[in-house]
Amino acid sequence: MLNNQKIVFSGIQPSGNLHIGNYIGAISQWIEMQKKYNCIFCIVDYHAITVKQDPAILSKKIIEIAKIYIASGIDTQKSFIFKQSDISEHAELAWILNCASARINDLNKMTQFKDKAGQNNVSVGLYDYPVLMAADILLHETDFVPVGDDQVQHVELCRVLAKRFNNQFGQTFKIPELIIKKYGARIMGLDNPNIKMSKSAISPANYIAMTDKPEMAVKKIMRAVTDSGNEIKFDKINKPAISNLLVIYSLLSNQSIEHLEKIYINKNYSDFKKDLANVVSEFLKQFQKKYNNISDKEVENILEKSAKALKPKTDVVLKKVKEKIGVSL
Ligand code: AMP
Ligand code: TRP
Repeated sequence: MLNNQKIVFSGIQPSGNLHIGNYIGAISQWIEMQKKYNCIFCIVDYHAITVKQDPAILSKKIIEIAKIYIASGIDTQKSFIFKQSDISEHAELAWILNCASARINDLNKMTQFKDKAGQNNVSVGLYDYPVLMAADILLHETDFVPVGDDQVQHVELCRVLAKRFNNQFGQTFKIPELIIKKYGARIMGLDNPNIKMSKSAISPANYIAMTDKPEMAVKKIMRAVTDSGNEIKFDKINKPAISNLLVIYSLLSNQSIEHLEKIYINKNYSDFKKDLANVVSEFLKQFQKKYNNISDKEVENILEKSAKALKPKTDVVLKKVKEKIGVSL
């Protein structure tokens, strides 16, 4: 049950392979926030279908993401994990926001859409995706939205839409705040430190999936691109690859970057990578031990229970919105 603590809401799409970038940038923040806040973590299946999905794979991915949340440390006794499509008010509120506050000019500014769409004849849903995300956040009267760097523009848009609605129809939505990590908000690809680590990367050398075999992860680290020179130093401009590996090392081992720089002062890239490979492999082993112990049935029950528990509140919020726009008689 929700108590009087502030509300945290975030979500991940059940598509592609969830990777250590998602863990470091988003999930690791969630774990910390659970201690202080009411936390709601969504599996955003309606966002996933903005691009083509194989239905059989999509349902497996939904279960997989829920297991990853739990094995990462989301406490289902305290926090909620639910599937977006189980609460239809998300889609309903998105439609209302589409009409009452979102404008074409807002959406035309979204850089992620431009990157994803390119010149292709993509779905209308992909274009409208940030409005659905705003609906997710506003429907749960969210205070804080912890995400990685690529979602900053979307959270800012959510704030704009909420304020615009409030201005026109009177105080309705709480204005959420973005929460982003100082380090780790954008983990870069292992094969190219100039592009982000991404679930939809064509080459698996780009990322370490949370479900990669530890031996595979070791290989990926050992083959990761490095910079010229041999110094192990955090310098995003001149040493983007080593800086990225340092961030991963630091956040998975709980040691500061400054401390790591000191340890590796007289060592070479290969020593550094071997140790990092070990850290990543241990992290995955511990994670996967928990992951493999969670049954599909257990996950299905958790998703169902959370949606049931959250629904009464989302009903109230949507009812208020409907009254404001004059469709509730
Ligand atoms: P997505 O993979 O787009 O569903 O993203 C899920 C969450 O992970 C969002 O909060 C993203 O901002 C975050 N995220 C995705 N890729 C990265 C990355 N390479 N580094 C850090 N955070 C990321
Ligand atoms: N769009 C986000 C992503 O791809 C996922 C998401 C959907 C989300 N709804 C959200 C994140 C609400 C935070 C809050 O990463």
